[in-house]
Amino acid sequence: MEPLLQFIGRLHPLAVHLPIGVFVLLAVVETIGLVRPAARLTPPLRSLFLALGLLSAVSAAGFGWLLARHGDYDATLLERHRWLGTGFAGLALGLFLVRRHLRAYASGLIVSLALLGAAGHLGGSLTHGEQYLTLAKAIPSAPAHAAPEEAKVFDEVIHPILKERCVACHGPTKSNGDLRYDTRDYVLKGGKSGPTFKAGPPPTSLLLKRIHLPLEAKEHMPPKGKPQPTDDEMTLLEWWIDAGAPVDGRVADHAPSASVLDLMAARLGIPAAPAPDRPTMLGEAQRLEQQLGIVLRPLAQDGPWLAANARLRRSAFGDRELAALSSVAGALAWLDLGETSVTDAGLAGLARMKQLRRLQLDHTAVTGAGLVHLSGLPRLESLNLVGTSLTDADLRLLAKLPRLRTLYVWNTMVSDEALSELARQQTDQRKLTRWRSEISDLEARIRSETFKVNRGVSPLPVPAPATAPGPRETTAPAPAQAPATKPLP
Ligand code: HEC
Repeated sequence: MEPLLQFIGRLHPLAVHLPIGVFVLLAVVETIGLVRPAARLTPPLRSLFLALGLLSAVSAAGFGWLLARHGDYDATLLERHRWLGTGFAGLALGLFLVRRHLRAYASGLIVSLALLGAAGHLGGSLTHGEQYLTLAKAIPSAPAHAAPEEAKVFDEVIHPILKERCVACHGPTKSNGDLRYDTRDYVLKGGKSGPTFKAGPPPTSLLLKRIHLPLEAKEHMPPKGKPQPTDDEMTLLEWWIDAGAPVDGRVADHAPSASVLDLMAARLGIPAAPAPDRPTMLGEAQRLEQQLGIVLRPLAQDGPWLAANARLRRSAFGDRELAALSSVAGALAWLDLGETSVTDAGLAGLARMKQLRRLQLDHTAVTGAGLVHLSGLPRLESLNLVGTSLTDADLRLLAKLPRLRTLYVWNTMVSDEALSELARQQTDQRKLTRWRSEISDLEARIRSETFKVNRGVSPLPVPAPATAPGPRETTAPAPAQAPATKPLP
């Protein structure tokens, strides 16, 4: 009985549209009848309309009462909606009874439309959240800050993510697990298992734990099928927890890495620094090619990005020549300084090459003292240190490079242990785990959507020819439980 009642209750969202349709249509037809008497409703037709409206309003209200027993709804909103809806059903009955007294009927119809609007709006707020209508207006305006460092770390960066992804189910309308994320105090308070994060060390958080569970897990948040946080949003939430889950202060107080700052800037609508001008950079590159005797070419047909190769100058290229590249520092994406005579001091100039993605320093005299200048390069992906005096201690400096994915260290003094430790630090296991779970989810979907053809394979194993077993086992599977009967045709 109970499941049936629950099922009927869930028909409420469907059923409410019928009385809305009937009464709006009735009002339209009656208004037309006022202007064009020829189109006026006949009393029997009006009675039919009103009977339909009454029937649908009463059943919608009844379904609503059933639904309200189980839904996890905001109590005040629910009470208002309940009584407006029930009141409307009562009014529908009243209208039906006074349908022959046109004056009472007309005013009743107007009141019922107002009531219908109010009840409908509250119903919408119950299911979609109170800000559903107004949120649509939140068209992005000019960014409030010139740089992400100025933004309030919780109010402007982290809380908006929780609001966007979690508040529909953890907010004023529904507070699943007694958890609300709509105000700072509720966020701090947590849910029925207490606070959902604790500032470290070590940082613990139910919040991230639930998000990181495999998608199929029952406790995964947001539940499977609901919009999930993007990779960038996850990275920001993870950074925030690692930073001690600060709810006060500005971003600058918590010193995020350059790549996290980039993500924040994107979220805050702050445009990235404008790219250098292509013609200027190409002109400059030509001049430097002649002056320094190196190769300095554009990387692609469009865009200002340059690739520089100084290796061919060998020891004739040193710190002074490297410093001369400063006029194209913002455009250099690849830089080959291998086998040149650059030193630790000269590498200070690299700190300005924020676009650098590939850097070769093999067979040079650089040491850890020079590598410290690389720590501010947010995009460096590949680094060649073959044949340098790199040590385990120097290796630790490289762990600060957020995008570093490939490292060449043949013929150096680093140990395998230090390398695997660095590899562990540079690999975001949480991301990999999540992506793997998404892949297996997609594979399951592919399997369930694939039409399989099976032809020519006999459903029963064909009995092996009745010869004496040879000296060696054959690889063909033995007909373990071959039936005594003939194989099916
Ligand atoms: C579609 C609805 C829905 C969305 C969206 C959703 N949750 Fe939940 N959440 C639930 C339900 C239902 C429960 C209670 C059942 C349970 O504990 O799994 C819950 C429980 C939780 C709990 C456990 C609370 C406690 O104290 O036991 C945490 C933590 C949580 N959610 C975090 C989140 C986070 C973080 C987000 C956003 C990234 C989110 N949820 C988005 C439905 C949702």
